[in-house]
Amino acid sequence: MMKDTVQAAFNAQITMELGAFYSYLSMAAWFEAESLRGFAAWMRHHAEEEMVHAMKLYDFVLRRRGRVLLAPLAGPATNWDSPLAALEDAFAHERQVTRAIDALVELAENERDRAAVSFLQWFVDEQVEEEEVVDEAIQNLRRIGDFGPGLYLLDRELAGSTGAEAAGGVENEE
Ligand SMILES: [Fe+2]
Ligand SMILES: [Fe+2]
Repeated sequence: MMKDTVQAAFNAQITMELGAFYSYLSMAAWFEAESLRGFAAWMRHHAEEEMVHAMKLYDFVLRRRGRVLLAPLAGPATNWDSPLAALEDAFAHERQVTRAIDALVELAENERDRAAVSFLQWFVDEQVEEEEVVDEAIQNLRRIGDFGPGLYLLDRELAGSTGAEAAGGVENEE
């Protein structure tokens, strides 16, 4: 069983992960509209990962006989000034998620819910990777100037890739 406070916080986190899914899916659609299909595929993959995160939390709540109470999602942004602006938005979102996960761990600790603390460690570790991957893509975009041939090449590199590895650069090319 979960305490009500822990359950409520888990439900809020499910909504946040679904919100990330929604935002990144909107970004993927925008990249498609901009004819940046590599970025679109990469972002869509990230969106799908957020759905997996939400479902991990969802299943944990249910396994502990808690109740999953889904909340309305805010409408995502649908337009960005540039690919860099979109990725900076994604990075800000990841940092917000990291803070929320940290707060959730703290709450679980205060409520002495060791199972929740143990379960959440995966999310703590995952956020390190999530921030790193988006940050690397931002650094690459800054380096190439967010336009022209460099952008074309980076898009080509991301095209067809589904892994976060692709954003890191050529060393992880599949
Ligand atoms: Fe997530
Ligand atoms: Fe994420």
